[in-house]
Amino acid sequence: MAENEKEIAGFSKMGKREKIAWLAKNFLYANPVEVVKEFAEYWHDNVEAQKLLDGFSENTLTNFPVPFGIAPNFRINDVVYAVPMVIEESSVVAAASNAAKYWITRGGFKAEVLSTKKVGQVHFIYQGARRKLFSFFDTIKEELKQGVKHITAKMEERGGGVVDMELIDFTDAEKDYYQLRAYFETVDSMGANFINSCLEEFGIQLQAKIAASNNFSEKEKEIEIIMCILSNYTPECLVRAEVSCKVSELGTFENGTVSAEEFAANFQRAVNIARIDPYRATTHNKGIMNGIDSVVLATGNDFRAVEACAHTYASRDGVYRSLSECKVENGIFKFWLTLPIAIGTVGGLTSLHPLAKRSLELLGNPNAKKLMEIIACVGLAQNFAALRSLTTVGIQAGHMKMHLTNILAGFKATDEEVDKAKKYFDDKTVSVSAVREFIETLRK
Ligand code: MEV
Repeated sequence: MAENEKEIAGFSKMGKREKIAWLAKNFLYANPVEVVKEFAEYWHDNVEAQKLLDGFSENTLTNFPVPFGIAPNFRINDVVYAVPMVIEESSVVAAASNAAKYWITRGGFKAEVLSTKKVGQVHFIYQGARRKLFSFFDTIKEELKQGVKHITAKMEERGGGVVDMELIDFTDAEKDYYQLRAYFETVDSMGANFINSCLEEFGIQLQAKIAASNNFSEKEKEIEIIMCILSNYTPECLVRAEVSCKVSELGTFENGTVSAEEFAANFQRAVNIARIDPYRATTHNKGIMNGIDSVVLATGNDFRAVEACAHTYASRDGVYRSLSECKVENGIFKFWLTLPIAIGTVGGLTSLHPLAKRSLELLGNPNAKKLMEIIACVGLAQNFAALRSLTTVGIQAGHMKMHLTNILAGFKATDEEVDKAKKYFDDKTVSVSAVREFIETLRK
């Protein structure tokens, strides 16, 4: 055992109970037996199922349950979906469901994949003449592609592979730094491992081919590979989702006090504000990502990759802007969203995680393009729901109503108290202090 008890050697080798007990003693200052019991409550009853979950990560102590919900009534390109969403924030699923229901009677969502290109980079240092490197690269480009056939063969059978590659000179920004940027089609897989394997092979072959060439001096032959890795920025793996209807069909809001025209004008203004101000754009896009991440997670995809890419895309013209846009013209309300979503429906967790597999089944086992469309529509629905609330009743009314359950849980309310509270707060403003007062009065 290390001298400082907060440091430890061989943690990963310890059993689960031992790990929890050690943490309880040294970090929680709590009774290890109690803490082990608490963590163990979230272990899967089925030993095999638990083994599978443990295998997804390292140093696993237990499982961290997050609600898995459904937003029904999503009409997308004339097919109705019940969309699985994994999220811990109250009101997100309800908001998506409301927006889906609202649009199902107004033509539903239309979505279209615009492109599916993925990107990878070999970053390297070359100290020779730029001209020589570029003309050499042109001569070996095809060979490089052929040289990864052992990796790409299966992908090519499915319609994917290495699409193209280019050499980029970054020496103005970093001394002697060049980049081989490669483009890939990975069909229904997210393709991270496929891309990274190809890139590492490109790196090895680039070095070998230069070393074998007579055109380079000994010094020039010393290509130093800095790193080979995919880029999570995939601006050409793009999907567009849209809703539109006549302004007159939007209905009225706030008990008929806000007309369809007023609603459309305010809604458009709200979107425009998020297009000009990064402070608002960040929150606006966060709302979109509430929907997107939930489906990305439910289907076993990498939400960090999708998040990172979305935000880079949102700032592609140098200013961070809203991912969605709105136009009210000639009596038509049109609201749409364009963003890159690099996901897969095969490989990774998609078939390994039993609930991710079920999510995909619920969606009719879509291919990656269909899933991109579904995810984009949920993002748009989420954004519509948020802006509809924000520009009419305000966000807190709905939020706090949904949050009531969480507040009551904080006061350890019984089922009977929860029922009474829900009835009482039906027409009142929910706040922590109001709920505390209500519960205290009830318990007197
Ligand atoms: C909350 O999770 C998301 C919103 O803040 C989004 C928005 O402001 O557009 C409601």
